[in-house]
Amino acid sequence: MNDARAAALITGASSGIGTAFARRLAAGGYDLILVARREAELRALASGLPTQTEVLIADLASEAGIAATERAIHDCARLELLVNNAGFGTMGRFWETDIEGQIRMHEVHVTATMRLTRAALAGMVPRGRGGVISVSSVAAFGQAPGNVSYCATKAWINSFTEGLDMELRALRSAVRVQALCPGFTRTKFHETMEMDTKEIPGFLWLDADRVVEESLRGLERGKVTVVPDWKYKIGAALMKHLPHGVKRRMGRPGGDRV
Ligand SMILES: NC(=O)c1ccc[n+]([C@@H]2O[C@H](COP(=O)([O-])OP(=O)(O)OC[C@H]3O[C@@H](n4cnc5c(N)ncnc54)[C@H](OP(=O)(O)O)[C@@H]3O)[C@@H](O)[C@H]2O)c1
Repeated sequence: MNDARAAALITGASSGIGTAFARRLAAGGYDLILVARREAELRALASGLPTQTEVLIADLASEAGIAATERAIHDCARLELLVNNAGFGTMGRFWETDIEGQIRMHEVHVTATMRLTRAALAGMVPRGRGGVISVSSVAAFGQAPGNVSYCATKAWINSFTEGLDMELRALRSAVRVQALCPGFTRTKFHETMEMDTKEIPGFLWLDADRVVEESLRGLERGKVTVVPDWKYKIGAALMKHLPHGVKRRMGRPGGDRV
């Protein structure tokens, strides 16, 4: 890697929001380390980017995958940005779903995010510069029948990020952390979880490039929670303040469908 350039590590770079981060950051001059399981997709992406790009094939639901990614972070003294983006959803009532999928979701969304952030901040805080973006969801602001673990793991990301922000600000550190909370975004996400998206109105869909733009603008401004698009900003603010009893009544029709 070029010693003079800033570097970023992006997990889940093989499609969707992760690929959009990779393209946008490479266009902005960052060297990249791209992490995911699908090698062909990562190599195809890397070959079209204008800056130096390394590919790391890792399953972030496994100890070996997380440890290899931690090592890549430790070994990169120029790491300016970590994007914890890898993630997936599952469908179905919690007690009826395959427990392996639920465990993997906690490994990818919670354990990997926690360990990689720890590895990144251990270098960034002494250097006095850098940032960590963790891709959460508007699902973090509520609960949805059929997606209970998804909402809970994303709520963890928001809480973790807000706590880190408090620690960093108390130190007067210039290092920034952000929980990025998109709504419906056109990626492979829904296809992978076999979700029928026909009933989701077109105006609710976001474009991954736009999500990334809002995230990076928010990072520059030191925003700890970024909810792209005004419709979702209003929705997230409402969800945060609704009493649980009201949310429960709203959730009932969805609960019957799962
Ligand atoms: N799309 C939406 O509507 C939406 C809304 C809110 C939040 N989000 C969040 O956005 C993030 C990115 O999702 P996306 O929408 O871009 O979906 P996507 O197109 O399905 O991309 C998901 C990425 O995560 C990676 N990934 C999944 N499991 C992994 C594992 N065990 N180890 C390593 N990488 C793994 C996938 O790579 P490999 O399969 O190659 O490993 C892929 O690159 C996720 O955290 C998701 O929860 C999405």
